[in-house]
Amino acid sequence: MKSKDLYNGLDKTKLPRHIAFIMDGNGRWASKRMLPRKAGHKAGVKTMRKVISDCVHMGIEVVSVYAFSTENKFRPKDEVDALMQLIRDNIYDMLKELIAEGVKVTFMGDLSFFAADIRESLDKVLRESSDGKKAVVNIALNYGGRDEILQAVNKCVQDGKTVTSEEFARYLYTADLPDPDLIVRTSGECRLSNFMLYQAAYSEIVVTKTLWPDFDRNELVDVLSEYAKRNRRYGKV
Ligand code: FPP
Repeated sequence: MKSKDLYNGLDKTKLPRHIAFIMDGNGRWASKRMLPRKAGHKAGVKTMRKVISDCVHMGIEVVSVYAFSTENKFRPKDEVDALMQLIRDNIYDMLKELIAEGVKVTFMGDLSFFAADIRESLDKVLRESSDGKKAVVNIALNYGGRDEILQAVNKCVQDGKTVTSEEFARYLYTADLPDPDLIVRTSGECRLSNFMLYQAAYSEIVVTKTLWPDFDRNELVDVLSEYAKRNRRYGKV
């Protein structure tokens, strides 16, 4: 679908620069259909691909997605294995068209957790997209906000530095990215679950009841319309 059809009446001047998704509800989506949880994650990947592409084609500069948290690795082994297989099978394929269009991909999280072949695919994505100027797709993999902050604090201590908040932000995975203007969480849960804790200080948050695999373009336009109505004050009047 052409970009002009994507907006569906949205005011393009009120789009967030950076949108971030907490993609929740894959397991419940599967349970409702008497399917194994991994079927929910598989459906979630399809949604992720479409939503990222729509956001980029709308002209949003940065799209972040919470794909695997530091806590997710403590789920039952067969679910973690299924998530690893999904990453292995999809990470390059789902991004290659966007990379060809000039999108840069970044990953945030401790990537040392992943098997060598997955890390190779991640490296390939990073390499091929490193010159991208059109937008940034930032994928959180084995990511935790507390770990990120602790790591940054420890680096500051090692550097013997007292830092300002702007300088501190340079120590985070998101050093080169603006803070998220809008964080969208699906499936009705109203919490950040260790996602971008430092960066979310002034983010607008929209929670939708839709389970992630059912999140579609209409929902995307709805959350963006809701964001466009928000009056951001950053603690001022
Ligand atoms: C939350 O649903 C979702 C996750 C823990 C994983 C999200 C991962 C993907 C969509 C795929 C990642 C793949 C690639 C290629 C990066 P949940 O399982 O917590 O759902 P529930 O709350 O209904 O149980």
